[in-house]
Amino acid sequence: MEAPDLLNPERRMLLQMQGAEVRSWSLDEILNSCNWSDQAIAVGAGHGLENHGFVSVEEHLSTLVDLDDEGQRALNNGLLEQRIWDWVKARDQATMKDLQGDFERHEAGPGIGLLKQLGVNLEHGVLQATDVAHLEKVLSQRRSFLEQLPAQLESLDDAMLDHFRQRRGLIHQVDRTQRTWTMTEQGQSVPKESLIEQLVVSEITPELLQSDAWKEAVYRSFDVTLESATPRTGRSHPMQSLIERIRSVFLEMGFSELVDDYVQTAGWNMDALFIPQDHPAREMQDTFYLTQPSQIELPTDLMNTWKSIHETGGETGSTGWGGSFSNETSQRALLRTHTTVNTIQYLAKHPTESCRVFSVDRVFRKEAIDRTHLPEFHQIEGIIMEEGANLQMLVATLKTFYEKMGYPEVRVRPAYFPYTEPSLEIEVKWRGKWLELGGAGIFRPEVTEPLGITSPVLAWGMGLERLAMLVLGLDDIRQLYISDIEWLRQQPIL
Ligand code: PHE
Repeated sequence: MEAPDLLNPERRMLLQMQGAEVRSWSLDEILNSCNWSDQAIAVGAGHGLENHGFVSVEEHLSTLVDLDDEGQRALNNGLLEQRIWDWVKARDQATMKDLQGDFERHEAGPGIGLLKQLGVNLEHGVLQATDVAHLEKVLSQRRSFLEQLPAQLESLDDAMLDHFRQRRGLIHQVDRTQRTWTMTEQGQSVPKESLIEQLVVSEITPELLQSDAWKEAVYRSFDVTLESATPRTGRSHPMQSLIERIRSVFLEMGFSELVDDYVQTAGWNMDALFIPQDHPAREMQDTFYLTQPSQIELPTDLMNTWKSIHETGGETGSTGWGGSFSNETSQRALLRTHTTVNTIQYLAKHPTESCRVFSVDRVFRKEAIDRTHLPEFHQIEGIIMEEGANLQMLVATLKTFYEKMGYPEVRVRPAYFPYTEPSLEIEVKWRGKWLELGGAGIFRPEVTEPLGITSPVLAWGMGLERLAMLVLGLDDIRQLYISDIEWLRQQPIL
């Protein structure tokens, strides 16, 4: 017969069986003769040998009756009825009153109940047995019943079982499957040489690889088609991964990242951007104004410049918005409503250096929460300042960005922002529909000239959550932040 390819435990078990007389083996016999302590190894080896047809396995279902907690205690201290009977025998006049003094209430009551069933009576308050011999026989039968445990259900006396089953906590039953293994003729004919155990490598270690031993080693084979549990490891939140991806796209395109505070003044958030002070977006329903601090001081000459731009257009050739500009309004503290508040300050600090800057950061607006709105969300913001920058370049940059993000179809439409001219709306095509993702434009002279900026500035701001909804195929923006662990685990790696 050809040598079968057996695992080491299978070899050992079959070799042991071949060396003994034909018989069926119990688990303990296998463990002993194979020198194993883990029964899973024996069961596994038996199963493997059975698959080869070298052993046959028989399963016996059996029920074992064993002592429960109370039963163990009864075995140590005596059954309750025995202890009370001993107490009765120890005195001439065993009165109910004394009994209640010597035993706890929870024992005296049930104990008397048990003895009454065995013919003990109360005569004028004194306990007496009608048939002592019978009583003591039953007591000793009960004791020997408990002493037999654990035992197979079939071997036990039915009447005793019924009795003890009705008493709480004395005995319990355990169902067991017992196996026996018997070698088949085919198993007997497996040549001894093929049952020699081999050194099998199941783990490849650096030591093994450094020596030459790996060349000669026998490797354990693994069935990679078997189902297995998916290991669950930590991972970034999908929003975080998306931000990382956006970062790398901008970095690839030659931009550097700007990170700045979200506590700002109305001056930088709005006035610097030529948003008129009576603009509806400034009202309480859109902007979170702070109470502490409620004002943040700004340099007077900065506010004076904005004042003249807003009231008359300053030196820019614009006519401004008219009305009267309030420094008080300008210095109100707020949570930024857009990240343009940061790019404009970056430009104010570096008015003459060409730059490409982006940010992905949080903004705040007083919005009611619904499927498409959150009061706190993120914007993807960017600016390019350089000589000769123009609209075509702006559109090309936005297209490149979305193309790299996986949305090749982009279009722009005319829009309006107080700080850009021309102004655009950016849309991408998703599942056959055009979706608006943000605004863009070239900063107006009313914005750039007071800051001493001479080159054109291309600027845009887009919603990150909107984009995330596209990428993750969501129709409810709230899903992004409810931390549903199952949903998070199922998200694709971005
Ligand atoms: N700040 C605008 C917004 O919040 C977007 C924008 C940025 C538009 C820059 C034009 C230029 O929607």
